[in-house]
Amino acid sequence: MVITIDGPAGSGKSTAARKVAARLELPYLDTGAMYRAIAHVALIRGVSLEDEQALVELTRRTRLELDCGPTHVRVRADGHDISEAVRSLKVSQATGAVARVQALRDLMVAEQKRLGRRLGSFVTEGRDQGSVVFPNADLKFVLEADLEKRALRRLRDLQVDGEEVDFKEVLDNLKTRDANDSVQWSPLLEPDAAIVIDTSDLSIAEVVDCLLGHIQAVIPKPKEPDRT
Ligand code: DC
Repeated sequence: MVITIDGPAGSGKSTAARKVAARLELPYLDTGAMYRAIAHVALIRGVSLEDEQALVELTRRTRLELDCGPTHVRVRADGHDISEAVRSLKVSQATGAVARVQALRDLMVAEQKRLGRRLGSFVTEGRDQGSVVFPNADLKFVLEADLEKRALRRLRDLQVDGEEVDFKEVLDNLKTRDANDSVQWSPLLEPDAAIVIDTSDLSIAEVVDCLLGHIQAVIPKPKEPDRT
């Protein structure tokens, strides 16, 4: 079973995908970690984030390995485990420039398809997943939320990470990301192709329950173990 979760920044898709994967005991394909990994390697090697050609070359030459489990994702680049490093704010800030390069995205999409074939059944989350990468997924979700609610969530996450940011800064950042998303990347899903969930007024537990409700409606219940 292939489940895709798309949605704008701050819609809660990463947390929801992680929790749904854990509950279903399916691998979680963290596509954001792949873009983050390239950003990290670019920073380490001093590759300019403005040099698109160099970023594409770097992506071609870097051996990325993603170990996707239901409750863990480990990322390696050229044999080095960078799972923690890719979460830093510096890397988060650099990743936008990396994810913007279409030729680099094409390489990532090919790699995501290859990973998907290897995993077989999995939950994947991130831009393009239901539309471009796994158009034949069994279940496609799009999580949405009001801009202000998304900004508030981001603000809280950043504050938990010890960042000093204010609401307006986060709001402006999300506005820019929304604007970029709508013009730069592959179109979102066809209308009706996905189940759209507005998470504005839902807690993460409610979002997860809602997703699981839809998923369990289409998958056969696992057989009881034979105890005879
Ligand atoms: O989900 P995340 O925060 O780990 O994503 C990191 C960055 O990568 C963010 O700028 C969005 C981008 N990204 C993307 O362009 N396509 C994906 N499939 C996943 C992430």
